Order: sequence, then structure tokens, then C-alpha cells
Amino acid sequence: MSAQVKATISFSDGTPSAEFPVYKGTMGPDVVDIRKLYGQTGKFTFDPGFLSTASCESRITYIDGDKGELLYRGYPIEQLAENCDYLETCYLLLNGELPNPAQKADFVGRVTNHTMVHEQMTRFFQGFRRDAHPMAVLVGCVGALSAFYHDSLDINNPEHRFISAIRLIAKMPTLVAMAYKYSAGQPFMYPRNDLSYSGNFLRMMFGTPCADYVANPVLERALDRILILHADHEQNASTSTVRLAGSSGANPFACIAAGIATLWGPAHGGANEACLVMLDDIQKQGGVAKLGEFIAKVKDKNSDVKLMGFGHRVYKNYDPRAKLMRETCHEVLAELGLHDDPLFKLAMALEKVALEDEYFVSRKLYPNVDFYSGIVQKAMGIPVDMFTCIFALARTVGWIAQWTEMISDADQKIGRPRQLFNGATPRNVTPIAKR
Ligand code: CMC
Repeated sequence: MSAQVKATISFSDGTPSAEFPVYKGTMGPDVVDIRKLYGQTGKFTFDPGFLSTASCESRITYIDGDKGELLYRGYPIEQLAENCDYLETCYLLLNGELPNPAQKADFVGRVTNHTMVHEQMTRFFQGFRRDAHPMAVLVGCVGALSAFYHDSLDINNPEHRFISAIRLIAKMPTLVAMAYKYSAGQPFMYPRNDLSYSGNFLRMMFGTPCADYVANPVLERALDRILILHADHEQNASTSTVRLAGSSGANPFACIAAGIATLWGPAHGGANEACLVMLDDIQKQGGVAKLGEFIAKVKDKNSDVKLMGFGHRVYKNYDPRAKLMRETCHEVLAELGLHDDPLFKLAMALEKVALEDEYFVSRKLYPNVDFYSGIVQKAMGIPVDMFTCIFALARTVGWIAQWTEMISDADQKIGRPRQLFNGATPRNVTPIAKR
């Protein structure tokens, strides 16, 4: 990084002003490199929520929130969703280029070679209650994968990093499907390597040893699209967590488990589940007829009701993933003959109200990808509490690509933010008898 532009920070408390380099990326806002601020001035910057902070340098994913643009390695998400499948997208995110047919065949071969989990893994599931939230199960089981691969956990060895990436991409569908089967009290289904990545996952979810499952191609493609659209999203909360965990030298399985835990929250990946729960609640209270009352609650400053599946920290125009997911949503509803289903009618009515209402329009609150992906998954018969697991399955490649990029960076340091301390100043302990 070289800087032709400099930023000068001056202070009104007598601290001498200081000059800092300003770097230009290939796209996006310039950044002021304040790494030497503390050394030069004894001051920190203050940016809780990272509203103005670039936490790293990256070459993987670019978002322009005002334009509603999302690029993986420079390729628009619309073109990837149209022309590529999920495993090609994984190859792109990990390697920087799209594969040619031979590279794709080799990559698919490597992933399918690792789809089974160690048989011991089945015992972990038995330790959970059947009604455990599948995200709780997933956090535990992905973290537990660290215990199985002692031979390839040297994070400084590129081959070890690569094999861990492949293992994670290959085993996530198996683990997610196992979490579902366990909750349903059904036997686990072993992966079938002659099926597509999405087709195999659907079969592991919905097949049983007594009745095999042949995926409907429309649903198989819809799931593949969900996976592509969720594969990476720059430095969001879960990805930043993976990077922070990884910065201490933790192994990749532990780091991805930390990412899964972060994704679970309703302000992040948990939004698709929260959105369906919200739709269900409105439905129980009277459905479309009660929509006006619900919207009034959302707009009321004294209530904490939010329209789940709407709004985004970065996209302030529209979420390009939502546009593609909306298309898929209508394809799936048409294929399954569900356009007249009351829940889906309600979702479409809610979308219409929110897109026209001044409150949402003026705050640029558009439906995000999770609004439509929740509806698609529900239509496909995926239980609501599995939605975030599927998001985690899709995002695993993004997390591991970002983790690999960080570990390969020679300038990488442990992430260690500082704070503005506003607690007690030094004081003496009073012995307990005198307190
Ligand atoms: N419903 C109602 N009002 C909202 C919503 C919403 N979903 N989102 C934001 N607002 C209002 C907010 O109250 C504020 O109003 P005012 O200016 O009057 O105080 C204004 O819009 C700006 O909101 P903000 O809280 O400053 O926005 P943020 O960038 O901090 O939050 C968000 C982004 C995604 C956390 C938030 O929009 C939200 O909670 N949405 C619902 C949850 C959701 O769908 N999350 C999934 C995000 S996409 C998947 C992913 O990438 O993880």
C-alpha cells in the first residue's frame, strides 16, 4: 500500500497535530491509516459498531451499499447466480478465479471425497436434547471437528489450510442435515457423492432409509442459489468474528464455530428465522387484515417491534441478493402451487405495504435477502429453526476464504481493540467485615 494523500489530525487540547497516510483501494472509500495514532498522540479512535472502520485489507468481496452492488472477486452476484453453481462460487472465493472445466472437476472431486464425517461424530449428537436448537448443535459439532484432524491443523502450512477448507465445505451439509435428522428422531442419511452439492443436501435432509428422495430440479437450483447468494459478504459480524478468533492462531474449525455462534443472532443470520416467526405471529392474530396494526407497532417509537427481514447496515438502496431471491421465491411458489397459501400471501402483502409506506421508504428499509430466503425455505419444507443453519452452511466458504486470506497476510497481527474507559478510578478494597 502506498499513500500519495495524507490526512492531518489536529487537536484543541494542545496535542501536536499528526499526519497519517491515506490509502486508495481499487474501489470503495479511501482509508486513513491510523495505526500509528496512539504512538504519535497517545489517543485512540472511538468507533463502536465499526461504522467508519476498515478492519482489514481484503481482495475477496466488494459491496457498494448505495448502488446495491455485490461482487465476489470482481464478478457481479447477478452473473454468478445466473451462470455458476455453488461449488464454482466456492472455488472462486477460495482461489480468486473461476475454475475451468478440469479445475472444477478436480475441486468437486476433492469436496465429495470428504463429505462423510467421522463415525464417532454421531455420538456427539446423542448428547443433545432432541429439541435443542440446531444452531446450538452446529456450534458444538463444528467446534468438535478440531478434535478429529490433529494431523492437519498447522495454520502456517498452506496445504493444511487448504485441506481444512475442503473438509469444512464438504462436511457442513452432512452436519446440518444430521442436526435436522436428530431433531426429527430419524436415522442419519449418509452423503451420496454422485449427486450435486445441493441435491445431496436435500436428500440427506428429506430422504430416509425406507424411502429415497429425488430432488425436484427447481428446488435443487433454488437451494443452490440460496447458497451462492449467502456465500460471502465482506466484513460482517460473523466474518469479523472468524478473523478475530483466527488472529490469535486458533484452528479453523474453532474459528468457524465462533462465526456460527455470531451468525445466530436475529440482527444477522437469525433474521430469516425471526422473519418467519413474525409472519406466523401476524397470521395467528388475523393475517392480512391485521397487517395495518402490525405496521403501526413497527413504526411506534415506544415499541421494540421491528420488521424482520427488512433493512441492512450497508445496503441503503436495495439488497441485490434480495432481488435475485425474490425471483427464486416466485419460481418456487409457482412450482409448488403455493401462491395462494395464506402465509405466503401475507408475506407478499407485507412486502407491498413496506415498499410503499413513507416510514420504510424514507429510511431506505428494503426487504433484505433473508426475507425471501426464509419464504423459499419454508416453501421447500425446511423447518424454520434450520434456516440459520443453512445460512451457516452457505457462509462457511466465505469465512474460510477470509480466514485463509488473513493467515496468509505477512502483516497479520492478533486483533486487539482498545476502549474508552469510563469506570471507577483506582480505589482501595475494604475488608469484607467492614463493607
Ligand atoms: N424495522 C423497523 N425499523 C427499522 C428496521 C426494521 N427492520 N431497521 C431499521 N429501522 C429503523 C430504525 O429504527 C431507525 O429509525 P430512526 O432513524 O427513526 O431511529 C432507522 O431505521 C435506521 O436504523 P439503524 O438501526 O440505524 O440501522 P442499522 O444499520 O444499525 O441496522 C439492521 C441494520 C439490519 C440491524 C436493522 O435494519 C434490522 O434490525 N433489521 C431487521 C433484522 C434483519 O432483517 N437482519 C438481516 C440483515 S441481512 C442478513 C445479514 O447480512 O446478516
